[in-house]
Order: sequence, then structure tokens, then C-alpha cells
Amino acid sequence: MDRYAPLRHRTIALVGLMGVGKSSVGRRLANALDLPFRDADAEVEAAAGRSISDIFIDLGEDAFREGERRVIARLLDLPPHVLATGGGAFMHEQTRALIKSKAVSVWLKADLEILARRVSRKDTRPLLAGKDPLAVLQGLADARYPLYSQADIVVETGDAAHHVTVEQVINALSAFFAESAA
Ligand code: S3P
Repeated sequence: MDRYAPLRHRTIALVGLMGVGKSSVGRRLANALDLPFRDADAEVEAAAGRSISDIFIDLGEDAFREGERRVIARLLDLPPHVLATGGGAFMHEQTRALIKSKAVSVWLKADLEILARRVSRKDTRPLLAGKDPLAVLQGLADARYPLYSQADIVVETGDAAHHVTVEQVINALSAFFAESAA
């Protein structure tokens, strides 16, 4: 029997702060489960025809959030897949409700120092531009952790290699589905 079969019935939505690995873990998770992978940030960029930084600069954060909401609503109507959401998506009440009803949500969580180190390697995130990453992440964590905690599953990733996190997520999902079937 294919032990991953029960994990392919619902979209798996990864939520959590910037730098926690939603996209890189998501891509590997999708490979391991033989599911398609979708990245909400990339889909928003494709829909807008510009980068997230440019969307923020040209159209503003509210326009980005509205685009993100629409894109995720569309993706959630697709057959089951692994969906990496942008870090702010689960803050939107409607998006959160949609994810809760149409997907199983997994909060990937790691120490802020680890995230700050990782996000410092890239300059593609407008919320961090010209700011101290740890301070920004601390502010976001304070505001967002109460909502991220509404995810169905929480996986503490630490600084583990992505394949280790993928295994953790698969084990957590298996336990979650076994429990919901019981
Ligand atoms: C954001 C996170 C980013 C991207 C945008 C805003 C946020 O996605 O959607 O820069 O509000 O946390 P990642 O979490 O994939 O970096």
C-alpha cells in the first residue's frame, strides 16, 4: 500500500514567516508526495507581470494583498497540490478561512535568529528593505504567531536541512490524517 495516498486528498498549504522555507520545503514535499507544487508569490508575480518588490513600489502593499487573496482563492480550487503561501497570506481573514476549509495548513516555525540569517542573503523582500531583519521579523512574529497558530499542524524546523523538514512534515501530516480518519 502506498503510505502517502492519504496525503494526496487535500491541498497542503504551508504558512509561516519569510525565510522559514515554505517554497524550498514545499517543492521537495511535492516531489516526495508526487503532487504538483504551486508558489503563491510566483503566481502573484506572473499575474501582475512584475516582481513583488515592483508591485509594492508601483501599486502598494494593499494591491499586493488583494492580488495575493485572489491568486490563493484560485489556486485552492485546483486539484490537490502543495501550496507555498507568502508570509502575510494567512493574516487575511478570508484567505485564512479559505485555506482552513479547502486545505490542510502547516505552520513551519523556526527561531527568528535563524530566519534573520536566511533572509539577509536575499534582497527581494520589500518588508525588509533597508531595515534590520531581526527587528522586522520580531514585529511580524508578535502580530502573526497568534494567527499562524490556527494552522492545523505546527512543525518546528529549527535549522534542519530541507529534506529533514520534509520528513517531519510528512510524519505530522500522516498523524493528522490518521487522527481525523479515526
Ligand atoms: C511577505 C512575505 C513574502 C511576500 C511578500 C510579503 C510577508 O513571501 O509574499 O514579500 O508579508 O511576510 P515569503 O514568505 O515567501 O518570503
